[in-house]
Amino acid sequence: MKHLVDKLIECRHLLPDEYKQLLVTTDPYLRQKANEVRKQVFGNKIFARGLIEFTNYCKNDCYYCGLRFSNKNCNRYRLSVDEILESCAEGYALGYRTFVLQGGEDPHYNSDEPLLQLVKSIRVQFPDCAITLSIGERSYDSYKALYNAGADRFLLRHETANDEHYAKLHPKAMTLANRKQCLYDLKEIGFQVGCGMMIGSPHQTLDHIVEDLNFIKELDPEMVGCGPFLPHSDTPFGKESAGNKEITLNVLAILRLMKPNLNLPATTALGTLEDDGREQGIMCGANVVMPNISPTEGRKKYQLYDGKIGTTDNATDSGIKMAERMKKIGCEIAVNRGDYING
Ligand code: 5AD
Repeated sequence: MKHLVDKLIECRHLLPDEYKQLLVTTDPYLRQKANEVRKQVFGNKIFARGLIEFTNYCKNDCYYCGLRFSNKNCNRYRLSVDEILESCAEGYALGYRTFVLQGGEDPHYNSDEPLLQLVKSIRVQFPDCAITLSIGERSYDSYKALYNAGADRFLLRHETANDEHYAKLHPKAMTLANRKQCLYDLKEIGFQVGCGMMIGSPHQTLDHIVEDLNFIKELDPEMVGCGPFLPHSDTPFGKESAGNKEITLNVLAILRLMKPNLNLPATTALGTLEDDGREQGIMCGANVVMPNISPTEGRKKYQLYDGKIGTTDNATDSGIKMAERMKKIGCEIAVNRGDYING
């Protein structure tokens, strides 16, 4: 397996069958090399993103997600602008210089105006912070307006790069073609862009993951969000099994070697699958954590999957716990924006 890892380091790309071998390898060399490359690029610093789950309303009906429109057991909420700014202030005090506004595709934000106001308010109050949006599919003009208002980055997971697989995870109204178009639009506008996929989502095969890697190669994003699928009991996939941790970790390692400078989070889903999942992710090449700075009340209601961690904590609890976890593995949270390092 060593030769394939070395080839990946040198060429930053592999043939499909070679990727498939690495995806299931138990040879520690892959993860060791990924961890080494992470250290070469970022030292012992881990970038933190203060995550604000600002609305759980969603017009979409993705079969995997607990926030899906058809889930009548989901208690809906939407944070006010003041609550969001208060969360930013708490995050700022904890040393975070990136805020991620994540939400469902909330019809309240169909028009750009309330979002533009929100982005502008954060931009003015926190001029030294990066603003990341994770709010789903919108028009080119809407993305452009948000960028001009001061948003820096955008996360929009592609979920799977295979059309048939995409259709098994989403209702007909949603298409992979539109998702990809959004990602290309965001790139063209100038956002630092993140795509990504779940590992072990229902009907996913190793070939699909290879297609994901090839799509990532083509899109050339600044960030990739990738964690295990976890079932949510109130969704059509409630009885499916969770994604495989070993494959997830191998995907993180492969991504680090494909793109040494990539901003790659150790996801909350990985930390939900296993208590020290995020630490394991970092040891396999991840360099970003996303501590939750949302008000405690809403956290239980923002359930993409069952068993989400940290729902009874406040921002400070989450921050202290995260800093301790990082320290245990010889790492430290960086107090900076953690922008993509070009080159
Ligand atoms: N398990 C794991 N990840 C999920 N997401 C949504 N539902 C689940 C689930 N059941 C991920 C999707 C989405 C991101 C915000 O969360 O990839 O893009």
